[in-house]
Amino acid sequence: MAIYPGSFDPPTKGHLDLIARGSRIFDELVVAILRNPDKTPLFSVEERKEMIELLTSGYKNVRVDTFEGLTVDYATRLRATAVLRGIRAISDYEYELQMALMNRKLQPTLETVFMMPAEHYSYVSSRLVREIAAMGGPVGALVPGLIEQRLRAKFKTAAPEKKSRAKLPQPSKRGRKRNTQS
Ligand code: PNS
Repeated sequence: MAIYPGSFDPPTKGHLDLIARGSRIFDELVVAILRNPDKTPLFSVEERKEMIELLTSGYKNVRVDTFEGLTVDYATRLRATAVLRGIRAISDYEYELQMALMNRKLQPTLETVFMMPAEHYSYVSSRLVREIAAMGGPVGALVPGLIEQRLRAKFKTAAPEKKSRAKLPQPSKRGRKRNTQS
């Protein structure tokens, strides 16, 4: 069994991509939302739990939980053997390496497993999603529809208008050049 700890404020398509990958290599995967008293989140822990539960209801071996304190202590209580974390780009690596090595120091039998989300999510982060959504920008490509709706409700913003394709000027029939080359 593995735990996938994080803030998930809000869960993004990148998180869901990682959950899908993790659910394929672990017999059981627990998405573990940290209750962090030092941070004022956008969504409460309960809201995040409910959202991730709805988004992962299709996976039989995935469940969602919350925890306080050290990740290694929580993992030990659950008898998890691995901590799953996503690495999007080299910039994530330093922080993730430090955390993985510190967790190993604290609990040597617990392994950290890094997985890469699909490359088209490599620029997606909860922080940027919050920022864009707060300013009424489009986040539909970054988060599932459910999260997009919840963000709109949170920030009381309207759905962004669908951009109509700009019509390119078409040459008139008479003006069109005959294609003489075959
Ligand atoms: O989604 P995030 O914010 O990058 O997740 C970070 C998280 C929750 C995995 C990390 O902050 C964490 O493990 N916090 C719990 C406290 C802890 O164990 N700290 C020591 C880490 S070496």
